Amino acid sequence: MCGIVGYAGRRDALPILLDGLKRLEYRGYDSAGVAIIGSGLQVVKDKGFIANLEAQLPPLKGSTGFAHTRWATHGAPSKVNAHPHVDCTGKIALAHNGIIENHASLREKLEARGHTFTSQTDTESLVHLIESYYDGDLEAAIRKALHDVRGSYAILAVHADEPGKVIGARNESPLVVGIGPDENFLASDVPALLRYTDRVVYVMDKEMVVITPKGVTLKDLEGNAVRREPQRITWSLEDAEKGGFEHFMLKEIHEAPQAIHQTLLGRLANLDLDGFSSEGITSVKLVACGTSYHAALVGKYVFEEIARIPASAELASEYRYSQAPSERPLVILISQSGETADTLGAAREARRRGCKALGITNILGSSLTREVDKTIYTRAGIEIGVAATKTFIAQLVALYLVALKMGQDRGTLGYDELDRLKDQLRSLPRAAQYVLNKAQEIEALAAKYGTARDMFYIGRHVNYPVAMEGALKIKEISYIHAEAYAAGELKHGPLALLTSSTPVVAVAVQDPTYEKMRSNIGEVSARGSPVLAIGTEGDKELPKFVDDVIEIPSIPWIFSPVPVSVALQLFAYAAARLRDCPIDKPRNLAKSVTVE
Ligand code: F6R
Repeated sequence: MCGIVGYAGRRDALPILLDGLKRLEYRGYDSAGVAIIGSGLQVVKDKGFIANLEAQLPPLKGSTGFAHTRWATHGAPSKVNAHPHVDCTGKIALAHNGIIENHASLREKLEARGHTFTSQTDTESLVHLIESYYDGDLEAAIRKALHDVRGSYAILAVHADEPGKVIGARNESPLVVGIGPDENFLASDVPALLRYTDRVVYVMDKEMVVITPKGVTLKDLEGNAVRREPQRITWSLEDAEKGGFEHFMLKEIHEAPQAIHQTLLGRLANLDLDGFSSEGITSVKLVACGTSYHAALVGKYVFEEIARIPASAELASEYRYSQAPSERPLVILISQSGETADTLGAAREARRRGCKALGITNILGSSLTREVDKTIYTRAGIEIGVAATKTFIAQLVALYLVALKMGQDRGTLGYDELDRLKDQLRSLPRAAQYVLNKAQEIEALAAKYGTARDMFYIGRHVNYPVAMEGALKIKEISYIHAEAYAAGELKHGPLALLTSSTPVVAVAVQDPTYEKMRSNIGEVSARGSPVLAIGTEGDKELPKFVDDVIEIPSIPWIFSPVPVSVALQLFAYAAARLRDCPIDKPRNLAKSVTVE
């Protein structure tokens, strides 16, 4: 996730671009850069925050240009990898948000034809590709180049010989046009535009747009004109940064389908996981903290089920105290931030013990990536809410991918089975969306249950850690005391605490433990506790045993943690909102925990 802003008008572009860019800094801040056409193409960029770029900018003159703030996905956060990227002639500049999947093969071809690359980014292949098609018409060159590209993009480009024109295009990454009198704008998101205009046109997938001071032209990738009426935006600036959602957490929960999609992008066909190989691995230990630990616990069940490999999960803060076994498992360290001190310590300990270490993180170039042998990135986009939501979902997806890879390499999955599982993974964004569409229903249930002082969450097998994650979410943002139990454990003690004022959230989807879950729900109801179940659509029996049901779609049970988690996140959010809690910044917590 990166932020881009473009301008073509009569005023000096630089202050407008910087102001717009600052409003998009929530989309990433690994590096920033600007390209302005004045007397030729002028490009300035650097690593770090926008303020760092601003402090060193000469007074660039010109009224056409664009700016970019980066959230790194390919190539470490550095000055050379910062956008804009420039072609060999020094006349075309390009900024990009998204991932060019076939960048490696494009690069190979372009280098063979004599193009010189200066960065490690996927984006640079596109600017050279555009250069190779350029014949005096930037729009035509971009159109041709985009036909050769696979992946997601929102791009902005300018050519020194075509002043007064910024060209944009979009596929699976956002791009919006702002319309003003004698000036027009482009941006990843509305907040960058609101100071200048409230009239916008959303660019859709596989569309291109040309802005000049005089007008806006929208076309499809074949060059056919597209007509779309501008809309009027009525949000305040602050609302706009949250995309119209009341809190970042809610926005991020709603970004789950996109996070799943991005994490899968380009990886499913060949199970190419950033070069990870499972050769020689005979067992797995997953190590993490907090929400990431819950992903690790889900991973344990997933690895055992899909790859038939012995797996265990351990808290990072405890791992170093365990005895080093003689066998050396692959240690998978999971951390959204890649900066959690306990997880970094565990990574060092794993390698001290002679184990291979694989990191799973959302942040490119984070400390974890330097402590492990290989890293697989979840590509959920920046997460601002302190409570992890979409990044947890992306971690689950990354773990499914690793399990598939291991199943393939170990020969525990046949071709048909592998293809079937891949197809099911592809359908997960839809499964998440199915639950998101129930947000209002879930809000009503939160109003019914969210006044409790104490709650219990129960689940079995792969949905036991999902229940733990549900309980953690409600604890941290709504301050309701919640305990999670493996459903079979209630009768060994906790049942003593159940009364009519302790609601129980039971994950009872149709999986191999379903019948047992029904019995456990019976034990709970017999103590008078109200039960809210998460069940599978079309299950006619479950509603007879519980007070309320939130349905997830009918998908293979091994993947059910994804939609169930989305439901529990929405439930926790709605409860916290009703209790008027500071949802994005819960008390005593921080997004990245860098102390042990
Ligand atoms: C809870 C939450 C925390 C983190 C934990 C580990 O919503 O976000 O429990 O999961 O602090 O953080 P990372 O994943 O950055 O290592």
